[in-house]
Amino acid sequence: MTSAAPQDAQPRLRAGVIGLGWAGQQHVAAYAADPTVDLVALSAMEEHLLEQFGEQHQVPGRYQDWKQMIAEAELDIVSIATPTFLHEPMAIHALGAGVNVITEKPMAQDGEAAGRMVEAARKAGRVLDVSFNHRRRGDVAALKTVVDSGVLGKLYYAKTGWIRRQGIPGLGTWFTKAQSSGGGAMMDIGIHMLDMTLHLMGEPEVTAASASTHAEFGPLGRGGSGFGISQVEEGAPFEVEDLATAFLRLDGGGTLLLESSWAQWIPNDLCYVTLYGADGGATIEWGAPTGPKITVWTEVAGIPAELHPAVGEDGHHAAAVADFVAKVRSGDVTEHDGSLPHRRARVIDACYASAKAGTEVAVQA
Ligand SMILES: NC(=O)c1ccc[n+]([C@@H]2O[C@H](COP(=O)([O-])OP(=O)(O)OC[C@H]3O[C@@H](n4cnc5c(N)ncnc54)[C@H](O)[C@@H]3O)[C@@H](O)[C@H]2O)c1
Repeated sequence: MTSAAPQDAQPRLRAGVIGLGWAGQQHVAAYAADPTVDLVALSAMEEHLLEQFGEQHQVPGRYQDWKQMIAEAELDIVSIATPTFLHEPMAIHALGAGVNVITEKPMAQDGEAAGRMVEAARKAGRVLDVSFNHRRRGDVAALKTVVDSGVLGKLYYAKTGWIRRQGIPGLGTWFTKAQSSGGGAMMDIGIHMLDMTLHLMGEPEVTAASASTHAEFGPLGRGGSGFGISQVEEGAPFEVEDLATAFLRLDGGGTLLLESSWAQWIPNDLCYVTLYGADGGATIEWGAPTGPKITVWTEVAGIPAELHPAVGEDGHHAAAVADFVAKVRSGDVTEHDGSLPHRRARVIDACYASAKAGTEVAVQA
């Protein structure tokens, strides 16, 4: 009879978190709840947040200078949850210092920056991961089990989208500046839907994109929300899109429609993935007032049937961070060098290039 190794047998990992906005706070909570990890250092610009989370979780190292943290805190792992344009320099520096890295999504402001991060991970022989917390949802996990059972047959089409009623994060912060965010709704929330849908479909390659972008709310100062703690620059121009739509070609002949919007004239926020297979279809849909719901259309004993598989617990950031920790412990750095999120970044690049050119654009291999 084999017995699981006691948790105490795991080598303890020393963890740090850079950035203490909403995203960074999720990583702090995940490490603090993991008995095999010591959360030893935090870095952020806000002294009061260093104090608050440092005290709450008894974190000894508190730094406004993230490079000093990397130099002094003897970290095994670090979460980077800062404005997107900072992911690349912070990750490359940490990897170069021998630290395994998980960044928030999106991985970087564009595919080139993401590619440089992958190179740095390979050179350092360290894990590079990206936190795609939404694929850890209970409904996504349930639908993945359904898809993997083969009951839907060959998947050849999918539609996915995240449309907010009023959800432009931080109008006038880094979120709405092109250089610091890399893009708007597609980069911020479309990336979650793209990741989730390709994951559900079994990771087909996206070969080409035909996309359009629009900015009808942000430039007028409409559609803003309270997300993000970073400083608002009064009068800063709105430089990104608040709506993006994309038609994506998949290898094997399949197609995927993706829509992402920070603000729309709709009654409630809407988030969905719909899969079309040769033997069945399925959808997950959430957002007020319906709440999370999963539906599968197929046949049972030759009779058309509508099924509602039970949905388990959401994993959220805790599951994404636990997965990162497991990857680090596995020692398998070649499998976990950031290549998958890099591919996601190249798809987004192709979407923006297509929107700019007004034609279909191939996704860079
Ligand atoms: N996975 C998700 O669901 C999710 C949700 C929100 C944000 N995000 C992502 O997380 C990242 C951060 O977003 P946010 O909403 O938390 O941002 P935010 O603006 O609210 O917070 C940014 C944090 O980064 C810190 N920071 C900035 N520059 C720094 C520096 N030089 N040194 C140390 N700290 C620095 C700030 O002090 C602040 O604590 C972004 O990439 C965003 O796309 C992901």
